[in-house]
Amino acid sequence: MIKMDNITDTPLHKPVMVEEVLDYLNLQSGQTILDCTAGCGGHAIKILDKIKPDGFLIGIDKDMEILQTAKQSLSKTTGKFKLYHADYSDIDEVLRQAEVDKVNGVLLDLGVSSLQFDQADRGFSFAKEAPLDMRMDRSRGITAQNLIQRLSETELGELLWKYGEERWSRRIARAILKEEKEVGIITTRQLAGVVERVVPRGKSKIHPATRVFQALRIAVNKELENLEIFLDKIYNYMAVGARIVIISFHSLEDRIVKNKFIEMVKQNVFRILTKKPITPCEAEIRENIRSRSAKLRVAERI
Ligand SMILES: C[S@@+](CC[C@H](N)C(=O)[O-])C[C@H]1O[C@@H](n2cnc3c(N)ncnc32)[C@H](O)[C@@H]1O
Repeated sequence: MIKMDNITDTPLHKPVMVEEVLDYLNLQSGQTILDCTAGCGGHAIKILDKIKPDGFLIGIDKDMEILQTAKQSLSKTTGKFKLYHADYSDIDEVLRQAEVDKVNGVLLDLGVSSLQFDQADRGFSFAKEAPLDMRMDRSRGITAQNLIQRLSETELGELLWKYGEERWSRRIARAILKEEKEVGIITTRQLAGVVERVVPRGKSKIHPATRVFQALRIAVNKELENLEIFLDKIYNYMAVGARIVIISFHSLEDRIVKNKFIEMVKQNVFRILTKKPITPCEAEIRENIRSRSAKLRVAERI
């Protein structure tokens, strides 16, 4: 069951940089807008408000449970929308089903929803005891536990380095696979415990397992591959003047977005509107600590 805030009846995921998203999308009544990471519908509901009554919002999320909350909140509006349980890398298929050739704006708010973190049984958080799953789409793919079981020590070390930029990657990989062989790693707390034992205690305020969890989550959900696939296709479906707004939460994603935008400028299909990424203001960071690492980039189809 998905938790709701019992005071306001709104989902517990706070959308980030909402005003910036709405401004940069340059929304007009009657437009067709694609929200590729609909989540709980926080951004989507605001977008619908700007494009109604004749506008159309297409919302995508690979997490069926989260998509149900988007459906609940969007159903309270009078705007027109359709939601798709899909990976945004399958954008061709979604737009074919929606019978839409071109859209006037695209939003990607990458990463994990607070609801996914907060739902203990999803396995995204080392703070909550849960099976080591981490799949955003629980209807397919392999879990983090299965992934660990399939990798060699070298492969796991490389994964932790590549996706977590974890300096103790080899040491951690060795310890994880030792524990896996001896007793089997099946829960989040068990994995966090192994990392805590082998990583030297520094002055860092972040939990020693943070990077390991990030790396496994990125690998389990093929986050970077899907982003690249999507960015190679999306310009084909953007009307001239349509804008794409992307919010990323770590440097690996942001680098891909930045480089793909530059590539598209060279191919004469995009104009970049944000020379440097836009970041949230201090007031937003104070109110929503999760927003502190957000970086927003925008490009326009030419
Ligand atoms: C940060 S949340 C989005 C929150 C949303 N903007 C809101 O206001 O509620 C990111 C969402 O993207 C979804 N997601 C991540 N990768 C995806 C992909 N490749 N395809 C579709 N959805 C994806 C996740 O399941 C999650 O619900």
